[in-house]
Order: sequence, then C-alpha cells, then structure tokens
Amino acid sequence: MTVTAAGIDALAFYGPRCYVDMAELAEARGVDPDKYLLGLGQRQMAVATPCEDTVTMASVAGWRALEQFDIDPAEIGTLIVGTETGIDHSKPAAVYVHEMLGLGENCRTFETKHACYGAMAGLTSTMDWIHAGRARGRKALVIASDIARYGIDTAGEPTQGAGAVAMVVGDSPRLLELDPTTFGDYTRQVMDFWRPLYSKYAFADGHYSIDCYLDAFTGAWRDACEQAGGRDAFSLDNLDACFYHVPFVKMARKAHHRHCETEWGQSIAREDQLATRVRESYDTQVAPWLELNSVVGNIYTGSLFLAIADYLRKLDNAREGGRISLFSYGSGCGAAFGTATVVEGAGNWRQQVDPQPHLDQRHKLDIPAYEQLIRAADSADHNDAPYPEPSQWDLGEGLYYVGTRDHIRHYSGNPANAT
Ligand SMILES: CC(C)(COP(=O)(O)OP(=O)(O)OC[C@H]1O[C@@H](n2cnc3c(N)ncnc32)[C@H](O)[C@@H]1OP(=O)(O)O)[C@@H](O)C(=O)NCCC(=O)NCCS
Repeated sequence: MTVTAAGIDALAFYGPRCYVDMAELAEARGVDPDKYLLGLGQRQMAVATPCEDTVTMASVAGWRALEQFDIDPAEIGTLIVGTETGIDHSKPAAVYVHEMLGLGENCRTFETKHACYGAMAGLTSTMDWIHAGRARGRKALVIASDIARYGIDTAGEPTQGAGAVAMVVGDSPRLLELDPTTFGDYTRQVMDFWRPLYSKYAFADGHYSIDCYLDAFTGAWRDACEQAGGRDAFSLDNLDACFYHVPFVKMARKAHHRHCETEWGQSIAREDQLATRVRESYDTQVAPWLELNSVVGNIYTGSLFLAIADYLRKLDNAREGGRISLFSYGSGCGAAFGTATVVEGAGNWRQQVDPQPHLDQRHKLDIPAYEQLIRAADSADHNDAPYPEPSQWDLGEGLYYVGTRDHIRHYSGNPANAT
C-alpha cells in the first residue's frame, strides 16, 4: 500500500481543574505584576492537584480526541505518551493510558522523554511509521502530558503549568498534513534544564536555557533548509502562522524574532526596518494563537501543540490550504523544525478542538491554597501516604490518582466522565 500523506487527524486538550492568577502570585512574591503579565506574557497558571497526574490528564485528553472525532479505539496501532513527568522509573505512563482508553493488545505502546521535545519525537516517529507502510491503515495516538514543577518562590515558579494535548495521527488527516521533506533536527549536550532522579522539581539555568533554545532554532531551521533543498518551502512570506515551544508566551516572541532574523537578516540591512517587519510579522503570524498558553501556562512537551489548538479552534475556512511552521525545543537539548499544511475542511472541527468549555469550569486558588496544594503533591505518590481525596479539591467527576499501596499506583473513575 502506498501512503502519500500523514498528519494530525484529531486533537484535544485537557488540564487541571485549578489555576492561580498571575497578578496575585506576583503580589505574593513581592514582584511587579507586569513582570509576569507583560514580561513573561502569562495571565493564569494551571495547577495540578495531588489527584491529577500525567496519566489522568493524558487519558482524558486521549479519550476526548477519540470521542470528539468519532475514532474507534480499535483503529489505534501505536500509542506514544511524551512526558518529562513520568510516574515510574520503569513502567511507561503510556501503558496505563492504553488501559484507560481500552486500546487493543496489538497496539505498540511506549513513552518518550526528552524534556519538552518528547511529544514532537513521538509525532515525527508516527509520521515515519505511516510513511514506511507499517501502520497498515491504522492510526497513532500521540499524547503530550506534563506537570511543570520548579517549586515555590523560585525563578521558574511563574513558568509552571500542567496539561495534556492528544493528537491522533493518520494517513487521511482532517486537520494538518505534515510535510516530511521539511523536517530538520538538532541535538547538543547542554545543562540548561534537568531533573535528577531524586527530585520532583526541575533545575534550570533559566537565561542560559533561552540562549540554548534560540541556538537550537537556528540549528534545526538550517537543517530543515538543507533537507528541503532551500528555504522556499517555508519562507515566512509563505507561512500563514508560526508555532514554537512556549514555556512562557514571551518566549514565542523571542523565537519568532530569531526566525525572522535568520531568514531576513542579510536582506534587510537597516535595524529599524527589520524591527518593524519582525513586529508586524509577530502580530499576525504568532500572537493571535497564544491565548491558551497564556491561561494554562507551561505544559512542557505539549505547549507547542496547545498553541496549535488555539489556531485550530479559531480557524476560518480562508486559512485552509495554508502552511504553518512548527518548532519544538527540549532542554538538554533536542529540537525539530518542520511545516504542515492546513487540510481543506479543517475549520469544520473548530468546536471539537476548543477546550474553552473545560477551561470555563476551572476554579481559582488563592496563593495560600496553591502553596498548600503544592506541598500536598510532594508526598502524594509515596507508598502508603494518606489517600489524596478528589472532593477535598472540589474536583467533581473524572479520572483520578488515589494513592500508592504496596508500591502500586491506583486510579479511580473514568476519563469519559471528566468535565
Ligand atoms: C524565564 C526566566 C529565565 C525569567 O527569569 P527572571 O530572571 O526571573 O526574569 P527576567 O528578569 O529575565 O524578566 C523576564 C522578562 O520580564 C521583563 N520584566 C521584568 N520586570 C518587568 C516589569 N516590571 N514590567 C514589564 N516587564 C518586566 C524583563 O525585561 C524580561 O523580558 P525580556 O526577556 O524580554 O527582557 C525564569 O522564569 C526561568 O528560569 N524559567 C524556567 C526556564 C525556562 O522557562 N526556560 C525557557 C527556555 S526552555
């Protein structure tokens, strides 16, 4: 069977039921709120309770992607969960998700880890799986699921968040067709962000990580140019929108600045002219689709795809057939740059992609409650720790982690019941 296309056929987001307001967090930390609101571009930050983990968020997002796009779980031949926040050193979160979603026994299932790049690694390998003819008409489910934890009163605290984006990848995609000839890669061993086995919290050299990210953009973009035989395939003038890894909204602006400079730097000599063009380009090709990131916060490996969810939920038919770019960065570091084409009819799926009804039901925590919750989460997965009780956090129906007994994680509920 000759396969001519591979791309994203379905997409859904699911995240925690609680959030904090960034202006309130800034006030509690004695920081000017504009630093978080304007300097980082964040308005709200999702906070996972001890009952919400990588598995529960991934399962609900996965269930929604299948249900809302009318995809039978039996059609899934590969399941990949990309995460920095695994729940076991050995057992993949993906195998729990496999059970929660009722996928078949002959589904290939594994977890990918490379900081925030894990889901892109999963997405590109499923694209290759389909093009190699291994899928045999089946689809893949790639889920990015993470809880970004830097800790209370750290420099990284305002760049936390949590959530999962699930994508079904198939050979007749309804949303985005990926172009394998435009994908470029980049890897370099750097200590910009890491999390030792004994730590729940990430260590980061924050400003250095921004430099590493931007260097990785240039490296992956140059490789993409070589793969595609030149930059015409993804010249900025031919892109409807540009998507980047978004640990915080301002980072997408920095990345786009680098993107424009790399492409236009030599052709626009005057700095003021370049700055004006970069600003105009950012306002039309990037900024309109960062709304979800600004109210969810950093979801690590899913954050690029959360921006794409924002684009797809606002998609009008005039944009169909247009081309977009995707850049994923994972600290440590690994990166990829590539392009995709918006499929004709993708705009008809706006409502299915839109997580707004779920976001509207979240409740705000005040700062003392947020701090109490973070401390409770610290010990929630210790063996025989007191059961975290979903009703304590006013969580309602859904799928929850309820404790570890005899060194085995336990879950209760059903992803179908989550609101
Ligand atoms: C992102 C991070 C490095 C910011 O660190 P910080 O030293 O606390 O913050 P900064 O002093 O750099 O301020 C952040 C931004 O807010 C701006 N800012 C500061 N105070 C401000 C104010 N009162 N009003 C408006 N903007 C303000 C700064 O100018 C800066 O913007 P710029 O980078 O465009 O110049 C830190 O949150 C971190 O370590 N995060 C985790 C790692 C990470 O996210 N890395 C990203 C790459 S993967």
